Amino acid sequence: MSKQKNYYNYSKLGKFFHWGFVILFVYGVAKQVDNINQLKDNTFFRFEILFALIFLVLLLIRIIYMKKTQKTSLPEDTPKLQKKAAKIVHNGMYVLLLGTVLSGLLIGFLFWVDLNDNFLIDITITIHELIINLLYFLIGIHILAATYHRLKNDGVWSSMVPFFKEKK
Ligand code: HEM
Ligand code: HEM
Repeated sequence: MSKQKNYYNYSKLGKFFHWGFVILFVYGVAKQVDNINQLKDNTFFRFEILFALIFLVLLLIRIIYMKKTQKTSLPEDTPKLQKKAAKIVHNGMYVLLLGTVLSGLLIGFLFWVDLNDNFLIDITITIHELIINLLYFLIGIHILAATYHRLKNDGVWSSMVPFFKEKK
């Protein structure tokens, strides 16, 4: 059991990025392309690419900002292995978020240059889906870990989550 409690708090902008991206990601999944033929609709196609480009730019800004100004709120006495696991899951989610949007844009590009009956686009779609499923898996672990910290009352949950806050 960790004796230390951490009172570190993510900045307002850090929390805004974190929760803003939860909303953006859920929206992106909800409005996902169900069928490649949907891309033949020009308005739909343009909206999809615009959404992906905005997502990409904001994600890059978020990663730079978080890496340069914020640190994890895990208490100092957290076992090394656990610190490492948290780092892998956080960085893994960033890599997979980037992978989702970049593979999506590559699908869009292949479609745009009329390679939509080509095996290349099939491979890219398979990779896009694989990345998204890995991302779901990491998000599942991440939420379980956050819940574990909430039960442990070590301050990690409240450093990022605005509800069910721990008492100081
Ligand atoms: C789309 C879903 C989510 C993604 C992609 C995500 C991603 C991340 C990332 C990358 C970090 C590291 C800090 C940063 O760079 O922003 C983080 C921190 C954190 N997240 Fe999430 N998150 C998601 C959903 C959630 C949810 C639903 C909860 C809680 C119910 C949560 C709780 C936390 C907490 C407590 C931290 C701080 C951990 C620490 O300081 O070590 N996250 N999240
Ligand atoms: C942040 C951006 C994006 C998100 C969050 C996202 C999300 C998703 C999700 C959740 C799926 C279903 C995966 C599965 O069933 O396992 C999917 C499939 C797909 N996405 Fe994306 N996507 C994004 C960008 C794009 C872009 C820019 C394009 C192309 C213009 C694209 C084209 C496709 C296609 C063709 C499929 C497969 C549809 C099928 O099953 O035939 N995606 N995407």
